[in-house]
Amino acid sequence: MNTELIQTAQNHFKTIIEEQLARIEMMKIETNWTDYSKVSPIIVGMLGGDGIGPTISKETKRVLEYLMADAVSSGKVNFRTIDGLTIENRAKHGKAIPDDVLEDIKKCHVTLKGPTHTPEQGDGWPNIESANVAMRKELDLFANVRPVRIPKLGIDWTFFRENTEDLYAVGNQGINVTEDLAIDFRVITSQGSERIIEAAFAHAEKMGNKNVTLVTKANIVKTTDGKFLEIASKVSKNYPDIHWEGWYIDIMTAKLIDEKRRSDFQVLVLPNLYGDILTDEAAEIQGGVGTAGSANLGKTYSMFEAIHGSAPRMVTEGRAQYADPSSLLRAGAMLLEHIGFEEISGKLHKALDICGQYERKIVMTGRNSGATSEEYGNYVMETVENSNIDCLWQNYVEA
Ligand code: IPM
Ligand code: MG
Repeated sequence: MNTELIQTAQNHFKTIIEEQLARIEMMKIETNWTDYSKVSPIIVGMLGGDGIGPTISKETKRVLEYLMADAVSSGKVNFRTIDGLTIENRAKHGKAIPDDVLEDIKKCHVTLKGPTHTPEQGDGWPNIESANVAMRKELDLFANVRPVRIPKLGIDWTFFRENTEDLYAVGNQGINVTEDLAIDFRVITSQGSERIIEAAFAHAEKMGNKNVTLVTKANIVKTTDGKFLEIASKVSKNYPDIHWEGWYIDIMTAKLIDEKRRSDFQVLVLPNLYGDILTDEAAEIQGGVGTAGSANLGKTYSMFEAIHGSAPRMVTEGRAQYADPSSLLRAGAMLLEHIGFEEISGKLHKALDICGQYERKIVMTGRNSGATSEEYGNYVMETVENSNIDCLWQNYVEA
Protein backbone atom coordinates (compact mmCIF):
# COMPACT_ATOMS: atom_id res chain seq x y z
CA MET A 1 0.00 0.00 0.00
CA ASN A 2 2.66 2.50 1.10
CA THR A 3 4.90 1.65 -1.86
CA GLU A 4 2.16 2.79 -4.21
CA LEU A 5 1.55 6.01 -2.29
CA ILE A 6 5.24 6.77 -2.21
CA GLN A 7 5.43 6.15 -5.96
CA THR A 8 2.54 8.57 -6.56
CA ALA A 9 4.25 11.18 -4.41
CA GLN A 10 7.54 10.67 -6.24
CA ASN A 11 5.82 11.17 -9.59
CA HIS A 12 4.19 14.31 -8.30
CA PHE A 13 7.55 15.62 -7.08
CA LYS A 14 9.10 14.75 -10.44
CA THR A 15 6.52 16.90 -12.25
CA ILE A 16 7.24 19.83 -9.94
CA ILE A 17 10.96 19.52 -10.52
CA GLU A 18 10.47 19.41 -14.30
CA GLU A 19 8.25 22.48 -14.25
CA GLN A 20 10.68 24.42 -12.10
CA LEU A 21 13.67 23.48 -14.24
CA ALA A 22 11.74 24.74 -17.27
CA ARG A 23 11.00 27.98 -15.41
CA ILE A 24 14.71 28.42 -14.71
CA GLU A 25 15.40 28.15 -18.46
CA MET A 26 12.84 30.94 -19.05
CA MET A 27 14.53 33.11 -16.43
CA LYS A 28 17.86 32.66 -18.17
CA ILE A 29 16.55 34.45 -21.27
CA GLU A 30 17.80 38.04 -21.08
CA THR A 31 15.00 40.60 -21.08
CA ASN A 32 15.31 44.34 -20.68
CA TRP A 33 13.06 46.48 -18.55
CA THR A 34 10.38 48.25 -20.60
CA ASP A 35 11.39 51.83 -21.39
CA TYR A 36 8.14 53.74 -21.00
CA SER A 37 9.53 56.92 -22.51
CA LYS A 38 9.42 55.02 -25.82
CA VAL A 39 5.91 53.60 -25.37
CA SER A 40 2.85 55.47 -26.59
CA PRO A 41 0.15 55.13 -25.56
CA ILE A 42 1.00 53.53 -22.24
CA ILE A 43 -2.05 51.40 -21.53
CA VAL A 44 -3.09 51.32 -17.88
CA GLY A 45 -5.63 48.61 -17.08
CA MET A 46 -7.91 49.03 -14.07
CA LEU A 47 -9.09 45.81 -12.42
CA GLY A 48 -11.78 46.31 -9.78
CA GLY A 49 -11.53 43.01 -7.92
CA ASP A 50 -13.85 41.87 -5.12
CA GLY A 51 -15.35 43.25 -1.91
CA ILE A 52 -14.32 46.87 -1.44
CA GLY A 53 -12.12 46.60 -4.56
CA PRO A 54 -14.55 48.19 -7.03
CA THR A 55 -15.15 51.15 -4.66
CA ILE A 56 -11.50 52.01 -4.07
CA SER A 57 -10.58 51.22 -7.65
CA LYS A 58 -13.24 53.57 -9.02
CA GLU A 59 -11.99 56.31 -6.71
CA THR A 60 -8.37 55.77 -7.64
CA LYS A 61 -9.20 55.85 -11.34
CA ARG A 62 -11.01 59.15 -10.84
CA VAL A 63 -8.01 60.69 -9.04
CA LEU A 64 -5.45 59.36 -11.52
CA GLU A 65 -7.44 60.48 -14.55
CA TYR A 66 -7.69 63.91 -13.00
CA LEU A 67 -3.95 64.12 -12.28
CA MET A 68 -3.04 62.70 -15.67
CA ALA A 69 -5.55 64.74 -17.71
CA ASP A 70 -2.81 66.22 -19.92
CA ALA A 71 -1.12 62.90 -20.60
CA VAL A 72 -4.51 61.35 -21.37
CA SER A 73 -5.58 64.11 -23.76
CA SER A 74 -2.19 64.10 -25.51
CA GLY A 75 -2.61 60.36 -26.05
CA LYS A 76 0.49 59.33 -24.02
CA VAL A 77 -1.54 57.47 -21.43
CA ASN A 78 -4.72 55.51 -21.88
CA PHE A 79 -6.81 54.17 -18.97
CA ARG A 80 -8.83 51.05 -19.63
CA THR A 81 -11.25 49.13 -17.40
CA ILE A 82 -11.01 45.34 -17.41
CA ASP A 83 -13.98 43.44 -16.02
CA GLY A 84 -14.10 39.83 -15.02
CA LEU A 85 -11.41 39.42 -12.37
CA THR A 86 -14.14 38.77 -9.81
CA ILE A 87 -14.53 35.72 -7.61
CA GLU A 88 -17.90 34.95 -9.27
CA ASN A 89 -16.36 34.88 -12.75
CA ARG A 90 -13.23 33.07 -11.59
CA ALA A 91 -15.34 30.42 -9.85
CA LYS A 92 -17.51 30.08 -12.96
CA HIS A 93 -14.45 29.32 -15.09
CA GLY A 94 -12.72 27.35 -12.34
CA LYS A 95 -9.60 29.43 -12.96
CA ALA A 96 -7.52 31.92 -10.98
CA ILE A 97 -7.63 34.20 -14.02
CA PRO A 98 -10.11 33.36 -16.81
CA ASP A 99 -8.39 33.17 -20.23
CA ASP A 100 -10.13 36.18 -21.79
CA VAL A 101 -9.33 38.33 -18.74
CA LEU A 102 -5.67 37.30 -18.91
CA GLU A 103 -5.63 38.19 -22.59
CA ASP A 104 -7.00 41.67 -21.80
CA ILE A 105 -4.45 42.10 -19.01
CA LYS A 106 -1.63 41.25 -21.39
CA LYS A 107 -2.81 44.00 -23.74
CA CYS A 108 -1.99 46.54 -21.02
CA HIS A 109 1.52 47.66 -20.09
CA VAL A 110 0.65 48.16 -16.45
CA THR A 111 -2.39 47.40 -14.34
CA LEU A 112 -3.83 48.74 -11.11
CA LYS A 113 -5.67 45.97 -9.33
CA GLY A 114 -8.21 46.13 -6.53
CA PRO A 115 -8.02 43.35 -3.91
CA THR A 116 -9.36 39.98 -5.04
CA HIS A 117 -10.88 37.31 -2.83
CA THR A 118 -8.48 34.44 -2.13
CA PRO A 119 -10.44 31.22 -1.60
CA GLU A 120 -9.45 28.79 1.12
CA GLN A 121 -10.68 25.32 1.99
CA GLY A 122 -14.32 25.43 3.12
CA ASP A 123 -15.18 29.11 2.44
CA GLY A 124 -17.93 28.24 -0.02
CA TRP A 125 -15.95 29.07 -3.17
CA PRO A 126 -14.05 26.51 -5.24
CA ASN A 127 -10.55 26.37 -3.77
CA ILE A 128 -8.84 27.84 -6.86
CA GLU A 129 -5.44 29.51 -6.79
CA SER A 130 -5.20 33.13 -5.63
CA ALA A 131 -5.64 35.62 -8.49
CA ASN A 132 -2.76 37.70 -7.08
CA VAL A 133 -0.40 34.80 -7.02
CA ALA A 134 -1.47 33.60 -10.48
CA MET A 135 -0.98 37.07 -11.94
CA ARG A 136 2.44 37.43 -10.36
CA LYS A 137 3.54 34.09 -11.78
CA GLU A 138 1.81 34.42 -15.17
CA LEU A 139 3.30 37.86 -15.90
CA ASP A 140 6.57 37.06 -14.11
CA LEU A 141 6.19 39.99 -11.72
CA PHE A 142 9.16 38.99 -9.62
CA ALA A 143 9.72 42.09 -7.51
CA ASN A 144 7.10 43.07 -4.98
CA VAL A 145 8.22 46.51 -3.87
CA ARG A 146 6.53 47.79 -0.71
CA PRO A 147 7.57 51.15 0.68
CA VAL A 148 6.67 52.20 4.22
CA ARG A 149 7.37 55.83 5.07
CA ILE A 150 6.76 57.63 8.33
CA PRO A 151 8.78 60.82 7.92
CA LYS A 152 8.20 62.10 11.46
CA LEU A 153 9.68 58.89 12.91
CA GLY A 154 12.57 58.85 10.46
CA ILE A 155 11.25 55.64 8.92
CA ASP A 156 11.83 55.15 5.22
CA TRP A 157 11.81 51.45 4.42
CA THR A 158 11.57 49.79 1.04
CA PHE A 159 10.87 46.08 1.09
CA PHE A 160 11.85 43.99 -1.91
CA ARG A 161 9.75 40.88 -1.49
CA GLU A 162 10.53 38.08 -3.93
CA ASN A 163 7.23 37.42 -5.66
CA THR A 164 7.31 34.23 -7.71
CA GLU A 165 9.07 31.59 -5.60
CA ASP A 166 9.30 30.21 -2.06
CA LEU A 167 6.15 28.55 -0.69
CA TYR A 168 4.09 30.49 -3.22
CA ALA A 169 5.69 28.97 -6.33
CA VAL A 170 3.81 25.70 -6.04
CA GLY A 171 1.55 26.58 -3.11
CA ASN A 172 -1.38 24.84 -4.77
CA GLN A 173 0.67 21.77 -5.68
CA GLY A 174 1.28 20.33 -2.24
CA ILE A 175 0.50 16.68 -1.68
CA ASN A 176 -1.23 14.54 0.90
CA VAL A 177 1.09 11.56 0.68
CA THR A 178 -1.08 9.54 3.06
CA GLU A 179 -4.07 10.52 5.13
CA ASP A 180 -1.63 11.71 7.79
CA LEU A 181 1.26 13.16 5.83
CA ALA A 182 0.87 16.50 4.04
CA ILE A 183 3.81 18.05 2.23
CA ASP A 184 4.18 21.45 0.55
CA PHE A 185 7.20 22.41 -1.49
CA ARG A 186 9.43 25.44 -1.10
CA VAL A 187 11.22 26.57 -4.25
CA ILE A 188 14.20 28.93 -4.30
CA THR A 189 16.33 29.26 -7.43
CA SER A 190 19.63 31.00 -8.10
CA GLN A 191 18.12 33.05 -10.91
CA GLY A 192 15.02 34.02 -8.93
CA SER A 193 17.12 35.06 -5.94
CA GLU A 194 19.64 36.94 -8.00
CA ARG A 195 17.12 39.11 -9.83
CA ILE A 196 15.32 40.28 -6.67
CA ILE A 197 18.53 40.83 -4.70
CA GLU A 198 20.03 42.69 -7.65
CA ALA A 199 16.90 44.88 -7.86
CA ALA A 200 17.20 45.69 -4.15
CA PHE A 201 20.87 46.64 -4.34
CA ALA A 202 20.30 48.68 -7.51
CA HIS A 203 17.47 50.54 -5.79
CA ALA A 204 19.64 51.22 -2.73
CA GLU A 205 22.38 52.59 -4.96
CA LYS A 206 19.98 54.77 -6.95
CA MET A 207 18.40 56.22 -3.80
CA GLY A 208 21.75 56.82 -2.11
CA ASN A 209 20.91 54.33 0.65
CA LYS A 210 23.80 52.73 2.49
CA ASN A 211 22.21 49.62 3.95
CA VAL A 212 20.63 46.53 2.53
CA THR A 213 19.17 44.03 4.99
CA LEU A 214 18.67 40.49 3.81
CA VAL A 215 16.11 38.54 5.79
CA THR A 216 16.03 34.74 5.99
CA LYS A 217 15.96 31.93 8.51
CA ALA A 218 19.06 30.37 7.00
CA ASN A 219 20.16 28.83 10.30
CA ILE A 220 17.13 26.52 10.20
CA VAL A 221 15.93 26.43 6.59
CA LYS A 222 19.40 25.63 5.43
CA THR A 223 19.05 24.70 1.79
CA THR A 224 16.65 27.24 0.30
CA ASP A 225 17.36 30.19 2.61
CA GLY A 226 20.99 29.17 2.47
CA LYS A 227 20.92 29.67 -1.29
CA PHE A 228 19.24 33.08 -0.96
CA LEU A 229 22.00 34.17 1.42
CA GLU A 230 24.76 32.79 -0.77
CA ILE A 231 23.42 34.66 -3.82
CA ALA A 232 23.27 37.88 -1.78
CA SER A 233 26.91 37.55 -0.96
CA LYS A 234 27.66 37.15 -4.67
CA VAL A 235 25.48 40.11 -5.81
CA SER A 236 26.86 42.38 -3.08
CA LYS A 237 30.34 42.18 -4.63
CA ASN A 238 29.09 44.48 -7.42
CA TYR A 239 28.07 47.07 -4.81
CA PRO A 240 31.16 47.68 -2.68
CA ASP A 241 29.75 50.95 -1.26
CA ILE A 242 26.65 49.33 0.15
CA HIS A 243 26.79 47.71 3.54
CA TRP A 244 24.66 44.58 3.74
CA GLU A 245 23.73 42.31 6.60
CA GLY A 246 21.80 39.07 6.94
CA TRP A 247 19.09 39.08 9.61
CA TYR A 248 16.74 36.33 10.75
CA ILE A 249 13.03 36.85 10.21
CA ASP A 250 12.08 36.35 13.87
CA ILE A 251 14.38 39.01 15.28
CA MET A 252 13.53 41.24 12.31
CA THR A 253 9.85 41.29 13.32
CA ALA A 254 10.99 42.40 16.78
CA LYS A 255 13.38 45.07 15.51
CA LEU A 256 10.71 46.75 13.39
CA ILE A 257 9.08 47.84 16.63
CA ASP A 258 12.37 48.73 18.34
CA GLU A 259 12.28 52.52 18.28
CA LYS A 260 16.03 52.83 18.79
CA ARG A 261 16.93 50.55 15.93
CA ARG A 262 14.25 50.61 13.28
CA SER A 263 15.10 53.84 11.48
CA ASP A 264 18.51 52.34 10.57
CA PHE A 265 16.89 49.91 8.15
CA GLN A 266 16.52 51.18 4.60
CA VAL A 267 16.22 48.55 1.89
CA LEU A 268 15.15 45.08 2.97
CA VAL A 269 15.10 42.08 0.67
CA LEU A 270 13.45 38.80 1.51
CA PRO A 271 11.88 35.61 0.17
CA ASN A 272 8.18 35.65 -0.60
CA LEU A 273 6.48 34.44 2.60
CA TYR A 274 8.70 36.33 5.03
CA GLY A 275 8.06 39.37 2.83
CA ASP A 276 4.32 38.82 2.97
CA ILE A 277 4.34 38.74 6.76
CA LEU A 278 6.89 41.44 7.51
CA THR A 279 5.29 43.98 5.18
CA ASP A 280 1.94 43.68 6.96
CA GLU A 281 3.71 44.45 10.22
CA ALA A 282 5.53 47.40 8.65
CA ALA A 283 2.32 48.76 7.14
CA GLU A 284 0.60 48.50 10.51
CA ILE A 285 3.30 50.74 12.01
CA GLN A 286 2.59 53.26 9.24
CA GLY A 287 -1.10 53.40 10.15
CA GLY A 288 -2.55 50.11 8.96
CA VAL A 289 -2.50 47.87 5.91
CA GLY A 290 -5.07 50.21 4.38
CA THR A 291 -2.36 52.84 3.98
CA ALA A 292 0.15 50.78 2.03
CA GLY A 293 0.47 50.23 -1.69
CA SER A 294 2.74 47.92 -3.58
CA ALA A 295 4.34 47.44 -6.96
CA ASN A 296 4.60 44.02 -8.55
CA LEU A 297 7.32 44.57 -11.11
CA GLY A 298 8.42 42.42 -13.98
CA LYS A 299 10.62 43.43 -16.87
CA THR A 300 7.74 43.38 -19.38
CA TYR A 301 4.58 43.91 -17.31
CA SER A 302 3.86 45.47 -13.94
CA MET A 303 0.88 45.40 -11.63
CA PHE A 304 0.16 47.76 -8.74
CA GLU A 305 -2.13 46.97 -5.84
CA ALA A 306 -3.04 47.48 -2.20
CA ILE A 307 -1.37 45.12 0.25
CA HIS A 308 -4.63 44.23 2.00
CA GLY A 309 -7.52 41.93 1.19
CA SER A 310 -11.02 42.59 -0.16
CA ALA A 311 -12.74 43.20 3.23
CA PRO A 312 -15.98 41.37 2.29
CA ARG A 313 -17.43 42.17 5.72
CA MET A 314 -17.51 45.87 4.86
CA VAL A 315 -19.68 45.03 1.87
CA THR A 316 -22.09 42.68 3.67
CA GLU A 317 -22.47 45.25 6.43
CA GLY A 318 -23.26 47.93 3.84
CA ARG A 319 -20.11 49.98 4.50
CA ALA A 320 -18.31 49.66 1.16
CA GLN A 321 -18.59 53.37 0.39
CA TYR A 322 -16.54 54.11 3.53
CA ALA A 323 -13.59 52.01 2.37
CA ASP A 324 -10.26 53.85 2.52
CA PRO A 325 -8.78 54.28 -0.99
CA SER A 326 -5.35 55.35 0.39
CA SER A 327 -3.67 52.02 -0.29
CA LEU A 328 -4.69 51.94 -3.92
CA LEU A 329 -3.90 55.63 -4.33
CA ARG A 330 -0.42 54.86 -2.99
CA ALA A 331 -0.18 52.05 -5.50
CA GLY A 332 -1.34 54.55 -8.14
CA ALA A 333 1.45 56.94 -7.15
CA MET A 334 3.94 54.09 -7.55
CA LEU A 335 2.47 53.30 -10.96
CA LEU A 336 2.88 56.90 -12.11
CA GLU A 337 6.50 56.90 -10.99
CA HIS A 338 7.13 53.61 -12.75
CA ILE A 339 5.84 54.86 -16.10
CA GLY A 340 7.88 58.05 -15.90
CA PHE A 341 5.61 60.63 -14.27
CA GLU A 342 7.83 61.23 -11.23
CA GLU A 343 6.67 64.75 -10.52
CA ILE A 344 2.95 63.98 -10.34
CA SER A 345 3.75 60.83 -8.41
CA GLY A 346 5.81 62.78 -5.85
CA LYS A 347 2.93 65.20 -5.33
CA LEU A 348 0.44 62.40 -4.87
CA HIS A 349 2.72 60.71 -2.31
CA LYS A 350 3.06 63.98 -0.40
CA ALA A 351 -0.68 64.61 -0.54
CA LEU A 352 -1.31 61.13 0.88
CA ASP A 353 1.18 61.80 3.70
CA ILE A 354 -0.49 65.13 4.47
CA CYS A 355 -4.07 63.82 4.30
CA GLY A 356 -3.41 60.54 6.10
CA GLN A 357 -0.67 61.28 8.63
CA TYR A 358 -0.60 65.03 9.38
CA GLU A 359 -3.41 67.38 8.50
CA ARG A 360 -6.18 64.77 8.64
CA LYS A 361 -8.92 67.29 7.85
CA ILE A 362 -11.17 64.40 7.09
CA VAL A 363 -10.63 60.96 8.45
CA MET A 364 -11.62 57.50 7.29
CA THR A 365 -13.08 55.22 9.95
CA GLY A 366 -14.51 52.54 7.69
CA ARG A 367 -18.04 53.47 8.75
CA ASN A 368 -20.43 56.42 8.64
CA SER A 369 -18.62 58.15 11.49
CA GLY A 370 -15.93 59.00 8.93
CA ALA A 371 -15.57 60.14 5.34
CA THR A 372 -16.58 58.24 2.24
CA SER A 373 -14.08 57.01 -0.29
CA GLU A 374 -15.24 59.72 -2.68
CA GLU A 375 -14.87 62.51 -0.10
CA TYR A 376 -11.38 61.30 0.63
CA GLY A 377 -10.56 61.27 -3.09
CA ASN A 378 -11.70 64.89 -3.32
CA TYR A 379 -9.54 65.80 -0.31
CA VAL A 380 -6.49 64.20 -1.90
CA MET A 381 -7.11 66.00 -5.21
CA GLU A 382 -7.49 69.37 -3.45
CA THR A 383 -4.25 68.75 -1.57
CA VAL A 384 -2.35 67.87 -4.73
CA GLU A 385 -3.67 71.07 -6.29
CA ASN A 386 -2.43 73.22 -3.39
CA SER A 387 0.44 75.24 -4.86
CA ASN A 388 2.12 75.17 -1.44
CA ILE A 389 2.12 71.42 -1.14
CA ASP A 390 5.93 71.09 -0.97
CA CYS A 391 6.27 73.63 1.89
CA LEU A 392 3.25 72.24 3.66
CA TRP A 393 4.73 68.73 3.56
CA GLN A 394 8.17 69.94 4.67
CA ASN A 395 6.67 71.83 7.62
CA TYR A 396 4.72 68.82 8.79
CA VAL A 397 7.69 66.51 8.48
CA GLU A 398 9.99 68.86 10.41
CA ALA A 399 7.45 69.75 13.10
C1 IPM B 1 -0.38 40.17 -0.24
C2 IPM B 1 -1.55 39.28 0.09
C3 IPM B 1 -1.55 38.09 -0.87
C4 IPM B 1 -0.28 37.32 -0.62
C5 IPM B 1 -2.78 37.19 -0.78
C6 IPM B 1 -4.05 37.97 -0.95
C7 IPM B 1 -2.70 36.09 -1.78
O1 IPM B 1 -1.52 38.89 1.42
O2 IPM B 1 -0.33 40.69 -1.37
O3 IPM B 1 0.46 40.38 0.63
O4 IPM B 1 -0.25 36.42 0.23
O5 IPM B 1 0.70 37.60 -1.28
MG1 MG C 1 0.02 39.80 2.55
